[in-house]
Formats: sequence, structure tokens, C-alpha cells
Amino acid sequence: MPRTMRTDRVTLRTLNDMRAKGERIVMLTAYDFPTAKLADEAGVDVILVGDSLGQVCLGYDDTTRVTLEEMLHHTKAVVRACPRALVVTDMPLGSYGVERARTVENALRLVKEGGADAVKLEGAAFATEVSAITAVGIPVVGHLGFTPQSIHLFGGFKVAGKVCAEADLLLENAVMLEEAGISLLVLECVPSALAREISRAVRIPVIGIGAGPDVSGQVLVFHDLLGFYDTSFRPRFLKRYDSLKERMIRAISSYVSEVRDGCFPGPEHCYDGDRSPRRVKRHSDKACLGGTNHTGPG
Ligand code: KIV
Repeated sequence: MPRTMRTDRVTLRTLNDMRAKGERIVMLTAYDFPTAKLADEAGVDVILVGDSLGQVCLGYDDTTRVTLEEMLHHTKAVVRACPRALVVTDMPLGSYGVERARTVENALRLVKEGGADAVKLEGAAFATEVSAITAVGIPVVGHLGFTPQSIHLFGGFKVAGKVCAEADLLLENAVMLEEAGISLLVLECVPSALAREISRAVRIPVIGIGAGPDVSGQVLVFHDLLGFYDTSFRPRFLKRYDSLKERMIRAISSYVSEVRDGCFPGPEHCYDGDRSPRRVKRHSDKACLGGTNHTGPG
């Protein structure tokens, strides 16, 4: 059923109602049709086509090399799989903040071509871009705290807002982005007490990742949650709900052994037909009948 015809589709209004009622919002990243379908079917409210796809799908070291075309490609696949969830897509580094008109054009592409419901921008320096994007009717999600697109500026992964001055700035930035028009805020890797304070100071849902329990909802990266992806990056906030990597390698290794041993395919995997085998005449056999250059069967 097309997304627009569903009555149970998650919208920004749904999320605001959930926040008002104290119901927790569940956000999860997904990057392609099968992962998004699983997340949507499992009842995830918001699917984030995160630029973390650079690492978990494309093998980049970080998110900084992800392009708008890559985001579009993955967003289209996710949208096709999500009749229910709200789909938010990341604007990759360089697709915003350089020229305002270009920022709006890029956000429009993610919505009109990609099919996303909203776009996400990292940092507080782009409040005017937030207003420009919302002015054309596109909801914007903010992202504060540790912002992976600035990893080189941070000098690596770090918890943000641990010292007072930084915490004050984060709180001010959250309010400033809300005033600029963001509809949701992702807070990544900030002390729980600060996240609670920010969540109380703004009137929009705050979704945490490494921001403790006192926010409106949580987000995790699909591959991290399922233990799909092997990495030395194991931040404290990451809870693994399964170890799919081991299970998948076990299954693939069984396939490898069975093909090598000749156990697969078994009779149950094969098709029967009426035809009985007959000898196939080769062109070279005909040449033999004609009496030219015959050297015998190969
Ligand atoms: O790209 C991403 O997956 C994200 C989440 C970590 C919030 O931005």
C-alpha cells in the first residue's frame, strides 16, 4: 500500500503526541530495502538513513566522504520498504552550509527524488539553513553533541558537554535550533544529566544516542544493534542485541563446505523433467562425417 494511504503512518504529529504522553520514540538507522523492511515491520517509529552508511555499507573510515548521490540512492531503497515509519535522511558533509540556495536544493532532492520525510543536519552553525529548508516545507532534524561529520575537528570520538562551558553552549544551541525551526533533535554522546536538561528546555522530541534515558526516544545504528559489523569502535552506549556476524559466518561456512563436499544441492533442491539424456552431436562430429580433419573425441 502506498505510504500516503496508510492511516497508521508515523508523522511529526505522532511523534509530538508521543512526547506529550511520555511514550518513548524508537529510531533506528537503515540503509537499504531489506534492513528498512525489518525495522518497519518490527515497529520502529523513525528510520534514519544515516550517513553512517559510509562506514557500515560502503567501507569508508568515517562519514566525511559520503556524497549526496549515495544518500539519494540509499534513501530511495529505504522509502520503498517503509509503509509506516517516518523516514529521515542525513544531509552529507558539504551538501549544506556552503551556499544557502544549494542547501535548499539538496534538501529538496532528498525529499522529491529520494522520498524522505525529513532531513537531518549536524551542528549549530547552520541555523539559517534550517530556517531556509523549513521555509520550503521540509522538516529538519538537528544533531548536536558529538557530530560525526566533524570528527577531524574533534580529533576523534568524544563525549560532548562534559565541562560546564561546553554544556551551557549545547543547551543554548539546542534552543537556538528549535527557534530556527527544527522538528526533532538528535543528541549524541552527552552526559545524561545534560541531555535531561536539554530535553526539558525544548518543546520538541529529543532522541538520544549515548544521552541517557531521560529524553523522548533512542536511536541506534542497525548494524551495531545486531552485531552485524565488526569494529573496534565499542562506545559505552552501544548495546548489542545479537551477534549476527558470527551466525552469518557460520551459515556461509556451511554452504562453502557443502558445495565443496558435494552435499549441496541434494535431491530435494533439484528439478525433475521428462526428457531422458541423449547424445549431443557436435559440429566437429559432423565434420568427421564429412571426412575432414577428424582427430577423435575430446
Ligand atoms: O549517521 C547516523 O547513523 C547518525 C546516528 C548515529 C544518529 O547520525
